[in-house]
Amino acid sequence: MKKYACLKSIASYIPTRCVKNSEFEKSLDTSDEWIRKRTGIQTRYFASKEQNTSDLGVEAAKVALERSGFQASDIDLVIVATLSPDYLNMPSTACLISAKLGIRNKPAFDISTACSGFIYLLSLAKAFIESDAYKNILIIGAEKVSSVLDFTDRGTCVLFGDGAGAAVITSTTDKNNSILDVHISADGSYHDFLFTPRATRQSEFMQENCISQYLQMKGNETFKLGVKTLISDVEEILQRNNISSTQVDFFIPHQANLRIISAVGEQLNFTSEQVVITVQKYGNTSAASIPMAMNDIYESGKLKNGDLILLDAFGGGVTWGSALLHFGG
Ligand code: UT7
Repeated sequence: MKKYACLKSIASYIPTRCVKNSEFEKSLDTSDEWIRKRTGIQTRYFASKEQNTSDLGVEAAKVALERSGFQASDIDLVIVATLSPDYLNMPSTACLISAKLGIRNKPAFDISTACSGFIYLLSLAKAFIESDAYKNILIIGAEKVSSVLDFTDRGTCVLFGDGAGAAVITSTTDKNNSILDVHISADGSYHDFLFTPRATRQSEFMQENCISQYLQMKGNETFKLGVKTLISDVEEILQRNNISSTQVDFFIPHQANLRIISAVGEQLNFTSEQVVITVQKYGNTSAASIPMAMNDIYESGKLKNGDLILLDAFGGGVTWGSALLHFGG
């Protein structure tokens, strides 16, 4: 019998420290009004000094496991998407999370696809399950973006937040309860739109040409390319699956900027009831933004088993992707 991948559970973890826009007014030439008007963001949450990305991820993963009805020992594979790993190159954040969950002798690895991380994770999980390589996969988008922010750069530091989202993807024979389609793509010729040079020998040359070692972004160019790409990506996945926007219960775009979400939502004729917006609360949490938003509608009781969800993301690389799935929780 053909195997399909089912998103069985969703969960998130939000750090406790809530940072209002007004905090940035103290040290930067910015204002609550500018940030709200240009981005929609009102607050974001920052992890404590002691909390690493793996600590955020593990909290989300524990709840996702509990909600799935599986034990950590049932998980065959752990994959983490992050742009802010605990360690620069190794060990992977996935290995650290596996260890903290007590998962041993199972494969674990990270992927580096920035804000499109969760869509790439779904794509991998779907492929592994449909090929019968693994049965139960734990996917996690976890970010301590605050650890790579330049707090003197008003063009970036006000935009991002920390957090984690996790999901258990499991094998099913019921197509109507599965991940129907995932599309991922990238164009590295835009690699300098968003990047984080860090202190490695390899990046010494790059650092000479950079103003700092922290996250840098060509905001306006990224904004324009993002809107264009997100719209065409959604149109393509809907068309390929012969689904109209009215059939979608929830459209969950990557939460980078309210103006991007509104432009994409309006162009695609989604109603305000369909579009899930959390950027005002959490800011841009990169790979965690989509699962955190999905968890918000789950916890508020809006998301029901079988609902048709459309996901869409765009981020550094540049990378992008979209997914159509029935919620299986
Ligand atoms: O998650 C991955 C994908 N990320 C995105 O998609 C983010 C895309 N970009 C954006 O969300 C927006 O481009 C920003 C919010 C970053 C900036 O908004 P914008 O409307 O594109 O503004 P801009 O970059 O064209 O800058 C307009 C002005 C500039 O001042 P001047 O040169 O006109 O004097 C900026 O220096 O706004 C200034 N500015 C700020 N002013 C007050 C930039 N950041 C701030 C700030 N407070 N925080």
